[in-house]
Amino acid sequence: MDQVEVMKKPSLAHGSDPASPPQTYSTESDSCIPPYLKNAYWWAYLHPRAVRFFERQWLINLILWGNFNRLRDTALDELGSVITGRLLQVACVYGNLTERLAVRLGPDAQLDVVDVARVQLANTRKKIGIQDNVVLHQQDSARLRFPDASFDNTLMFFLLHEQPEGVRRATIAEAIRVTRKGGRIVFVDYHRPGHWNPMRYLMTGVFKLFEPYAENFWSRDILEWAPPGFTPTRVHKRTYFGRLYQKTILCV
Ligand SMILES: C[S@@+](CC[C@H](N)C(=O)[O-])C[C@H]1O[C@@H](n2cnc3c(N)ncnc32)[C@H](O)[C@@H]1O
Repeated sequence: MDQVEVMKKPSLAHGSDPASPPQTYSTESDSCIPPYLKNAYWWAYLHPRAVRFFERQWLINLILWGNFNRLRDTALDELGSVITGRLLQVACVYGNLTERLAVRLGPDAQLDVVDVARVQLANTRKKIGIQDNVVLHQQDSARLRFPDASFDNTLMFFLLHEQPEGVRRATIAEAIRVTRKGGRIVFVDYHRPGHWNPMRYLMTGVFKLFEPYAENFWSRDILEWAPPGFTPTRVHKRTYFGRLYQKTILCV
């Protein structure tokens, strides 16, 4: 049986805690992992060797054609040089995004990171170390266990394009539910490139091989995947790298 060693941090308000004194966890506790993740992305996120392979800053930057720092920083800038209140990061990310978020936390701020895979939470804990103001939760983005309006802001970095349409809709609906009125949801993800961008053909091929839901994702604006009754107070979208990437902000 595969086992994951997880470093630890104190108590969790919601969900199970993937970090206690150095301890081993069985992948049986991953029975909640959705089928699409097991089938389409086991090689990228679930296998312990995948984590060892992909957790390299240069590789993640290469996968984003050299844009990782720029996209990470645009997300960080949106949240401010000092983050206040409670911030939710939906899904772990390879590279140093979470570390950079953690160092920006103000005195009373808290970062909550959700992922459905314990191996990813363990990897995040390893990267950030033990910090009382960073709390990890094993939860499914489509069925969050936080009360309504629990967070001041929510961040999703390259999650939505990996989810089938139904899960994607549920994930966005959940982000809207748990973000308070006046808060922001910051999405950084792929965007359909301009028709003049040669990357369009390359990325279509890459998606066919590795990202089965991504073309469906970029066929519409993120707001169009939100629940029909949802009207944001403001929407802001900016694209990067010939429109291959986007930052979209929905103000709740
Ligand atoms: C944020 S996405 C992609 C990030 C980006 N490609 C990177 O460089 O890491 C990858 C993460 O999403 C998580 N994930 C996928 N589906 C999820 C779901 N339904 N709920 C919570 N986490 C999920 C995976 O376990 C994985 O850790």
